[in-house]
Amino acid sequence: MKPIEVTKDIYYVGVNDRTKENFEGHWPLPRGVSYNSYIIEDEKTVLIDAVDICYSNVLSRRIRSVLGDKPIDYLVINHMEPDHTGAVEWLVSQYPDIQIVGNKRTIEMLNGFYGIADNVVLVEDGGELSIGKNRLQFYLTPMVHWPETMMTYIPEKKVLFSGDAFGAFGTLDGGVLDTQIHPERYYDEMIRYYSNIVGKFGSPVQTALKKLSGLGIEAICSTHGPVWTVAENISNVVNLYDRLSRYEGDNGLVIAYGSMYGNTEELAEIIASEAARNGLKSIVMHNVSKSSQSDIIRDVFKYKGLIIGSPTYNSKLYPEVESLVSALDNRFVKNRFFSYFGSFSWSDTTARHLSAFARGMEFELIAEPVIMKQGMIAGVEEKAREMGRAMAEKLLSGVEVVPTLYPEENAKIK
Ligand code: FEO
Repeated sequence: MKPIEVTKDIYYVGVNDRTKENFEGHWPLPRGVSYNSYIIEDEKTVLIDAVDICYSNVLSRRIRSVLGDKPIDYLVINHMEPDHTGAVEWLVSQYPDIQIVGNKRTIEMLNGFYGIADNVVLVEDGGELSIGKNRLQFYLTPMVHWPETMMTYIPEKKVLFSGDAFGAFGTLDGGVLDTQIHPERYYDEMIRYYSNIVGKFGSPVQTALKKLSGLGIEAICSTHGPVWTVAENISNVVNLYDRLSRYEGDNGLVIAYGSMYGNTEELAEIIASEAARNGLKSIVMHNVSKSSQSDIIRDVFKYKGLIIGSPTYNSKLYPEVESLVSALDNRFVKNRFFSYFGSFSWSDTTARHLSAFARGMEFELIAEPVIMKQGMIAGVEEKAREMGRAMAEKLLSGVEVVPTLYPEENAKIK
């Protein structure tokens, strides 16, 4: 394939994975994923990040399409997760003189995962490596997404190789640069990637954003998804990361519920209907047994309102609801308006579990919880309506312009 030039002397040599069902063995990939890799041609040749082991051969052909038989002098590893380092052993076998650049923790992991300890170049935070006309500067950004994570910046070209940061699920279907695609196609998958994979690390992401804030950036080359080169798009994705890592949601509502025989679901429908009747347009409902948890987590990061419903099941929450609240707790989700509802057949524990969850998360409780014994009994329906009404009013009160995580929607509002 003809090399794809990001800017002069920097080429995209990444690959698309449309085969894998689940990222990290867990997160669904309905639109696949790309593993992005880049070549810099200077007096020294540099490969920035590698790819999943399954795509070693494809990477090989992409590299040779740029370098021919020239060797690679340096491999910079910004992130050790095997979706980017699976091909490293193969690279070392093909390019035995390649020097691997990483920080202290990278080098420990390189040895731990692959037994590679020779030909390594240790760099520190703020360190620099000259490759000819250009320099590589290294910024340690721990926990975006692993502790060894760093970013590499070329000041002469104002290009940032950001690792997982600013990345998105979804393959690159022909277009790689944002100038070749409709960027909005990737925003939902960027929010899903962030919330599922990096969402636990909001505070380290904020630290990283502050560290990078003084850099002039004219291109962001992430390890997943499009390469961002247009100033407006760069600003949009940085703002998106800033908002997501501050747990700042849009004025919408997620209702996630489990239901065995439809009784809890009926409450969910009443709540949603009443919220809509009171003017709330952004409402997403998830039956936890049907929706992917990945999508539910994405929507909880997108929206400020959250209502969870569960039957009592073996004295616990419904299993998928229990799994969801655990996933949200694990990601330290903050600043949500919250309500809960549920049902039981003979002994309720839903209220205890969901109120403990709300307290632990420090969510603001909106409306009295609705807990129903067996089927719809007098008074329950009105309490459910009140929950929908109160949540809509809370989300819409004092909101003149509804902010949104979607840049193209913001542009329309302005
Ligand atoms: Fe794309 Fe954290 O790996």
